Amino acid sequence: MDFSKLDDKRVFVTGAADGIGAALARAFRAAGARVFLSDVAEERLRETATALDAPGVACDVRNPTSLARVVERAWRELGGLDLVCANAGVVVQGPLLEASREELDFIFGINAWGALDTCRPFVRLLRENKKPGHILLTGSEAALSYPELIRDMQIGAYLMTKHSVLAMADGLRADLRGDGIGVSVLCPGPVATSLSQNSSALRAGRAAVGPVVPTAGLGPEAQARVGALSVSPDQIAARALEGLRRGLFVIPTHPHIAADVEARHAEIRAGLDALAARA
Ligand SMILES: NC(=O)c1ccc[n+]([C@@H]2O[C@H](COP(=O)([O-])OP(=O)(O)OC[C@H]3O[C@@H](n4cnc5c(N)ncnc54)[C@H](O)[C@@H]3O)[C@@H](O)[C@H]2O)c1
Repeated sequence: MDFSKLDDKRVFVTGAADGIGAALARAFRAAGARVFLSDVAEERLRETATALDAPGVACDVRNPTSLARVVERAWRELGGLDLVCANAGVVVQGPLLEASREELDFIFGINAWGALDTCRPFVRLLRENKKPGHILLTGSEAALSYPELIRDMQIGAYLMTKHSVLAMADGLRADLRGDGIGVSVLCPGPVATSLSQNSSALRAGRAAVGPVVPTAGLGPEAQARVGALSVSPDQIAARALEGLRRGLFVIPTHPHIAADVEARHAEIRAGLDALAARA
């Protein structure tokens, strides 16, 4: 899909009430696209949608039936959809072996299954109407490796879900090749959002209140480095639009990720070299 022109595009965004999702909606709107917002946080969604003068309908991405209804409604109201941003996400922290099934179901239910269920009605509608389209999944730098800088945050469960988002992008790209439906995966580094706060509040079944430390578990030096690398959600949205315009599959947002990705590739290379040495 050609994203050099955005004023003819119709965009659906999940997790659009706050952070990166709200910034994506703002950026597309500013470029002349029509946007439809969705989020589980009703009140914040109303405020964000009102500020953008755009439609917004509350929906929990863990509920595929209501998700399908909202995507169908967006399709009807905007007269079709060109791009779906499956962006809603949460984080949980703690040693992986101590994560409960409830915790894993919570994070996989939103970050992995919720993203896939967002794509299902969109692809169905595109196929029924024989239209091209594009899917933008929000992954993370944690989809590409376990960045050294944030390893002490103990976000192994989050890492698992975000690697699965990258795998999902691969699977969808292969499946949808013949349908004219493209796939990209946005892989941000640290972004100044209320991700930890919103996630804890949602898990506890209440509205987000009060600040939380998004770098819990890190020493002062690492916290300072993460702080210095953090960018605004609007900067991430600008990178996302640029990546779509360039037709990228993986859209990274922070150059420092390169060192972590190279370290991962070096580990794979070491395994392959050892295999070759046996021959
Ligand atoms: N903040 C970062 O440093 C960072 C870095 C890389 C990737 N990400 C990813 O970016 C995406 C957006 O996160 P953010 O940092 O903007 O945080 P955020 O909390 O500001 O935004 C996430 C939004 O998703 C919504 N959401 C959560 N669970 C939902 C559900 N079940 N159904 C519908 N909506 C739900 C929240 O209400 C919130 O508005 C997430 O997928 C996150 O994993 C964030």
